Amino acid sequence: MNMDLKNKNILITGGAKRVGAAISRYLSARGAHMIIHFNRSVQEAKNLHAELTGLNRPVDFVQADLENLSGLHDMVDTVLQKHGRIDGLICNASIFFHTPFFSVTEEEWDQIVAVNLKSYFFLCQMIGKKMVEQKSGKIVIITDVSADHPWCGYLPYTITKAGLAHLVKGLAKTLSPSVQVNGVAPGTVLPPEDASARQVEKYENQTLLKRVGTPDDIAKTVHFLIADSEFITGVNIPVDGGYRLRGNG
Ligand SMILES: NC(=O)c1ccc[n+]([C@@H]2O[C@H](COP(=O)([O-])OP(=O)(O)OC[C@H]3O[C@@H](n4cnc5c(N)ncnc54)[C@H](OP(=O)(O)O)[C@@H]3O)[C@@H](O)[C@H]2O)c1
Repeated sequence: MNMDLKNKNILITGGAKRVGAAISRYLSARGAHMIIHFNRSVQEAKNLHAELTGLNRPVDFVQADLENLSGLHDMVDTVLQKHGRIDGLICNASIFFHTPFFSVTEEEWDQIVAVNLKSYFFLCQMIGKKMVEQKSGKIVIITDVSADHPWCGYLPYTITKAGLAHLVKGLAKTLSPSVQVNGVAPGTVLPPEDASARQVEKYENQTLLKRVGTPDDIAKTVHFLIADSEFITGVNIPVDGGYRLRGNG
């Protein structure tokens, strides 16, 4: 269903910094009432709060560790008690770190799966139930091009992203017909903060467009899926400058 964002409650995880903050700003500028989740980025959340309230935009911030399921339940209860409904959910937060296959520990595996996959299965269960009762809602899950192209040095991460791509399809079926569920699969749009110039050049050369994207490329696609798309559900849209088609052919 087409959605005028004005006064719509949109909850985003990890929305206080980097790509999440770009999505928060983009949707807020288009009238959404953003409910911005963060965990450790307290200062970034304070700064974004000051920025958006300074522009007279309605905004709320909630804190939770996605690794802690009961904390996540409490966060959703708090949001629903305060705001009554959630019209859109953007599952953006994730963790990403190097995990060479032969040295991955059980602790690392559990953490990556808990934050990137398990949390979203249950967050979508909690909020999906409410959206079905409301008979409307949009869910967007941020996946990764690596969902289809496993990276050997990051297999636990890419496995969680493949799981999320599957979750998109499963939820689209489960929550239909009232709720549309889609994924956005970014290529590099904001390199890690410690990436060297040489690494960035490598990312650029891996795309057909010979550049990395921007966080706004993701924000625009999320906006399209939440505000404009009426007949799209269960897809995972690559926003990757053609990364997935690279190769020798
Ligand atoms: N950047 C890219 O080029 C790129 C490429 C492909 C896919 N993606 C995907 O796009 C999304 C955003 O990317 P990004 O680079 O902006 O991500 P990021 O900087 O790695 O972090 C995103 C957010 O995840 C939150 N987070 C991490 N662990 C958490 C936990 N235990 N509990 C709650 N929140 C937690 C962080 O919140 P706090 O800081 O508040 O703790 C942070 O704001 C991710 O899903 C990522 O996988 C990004």
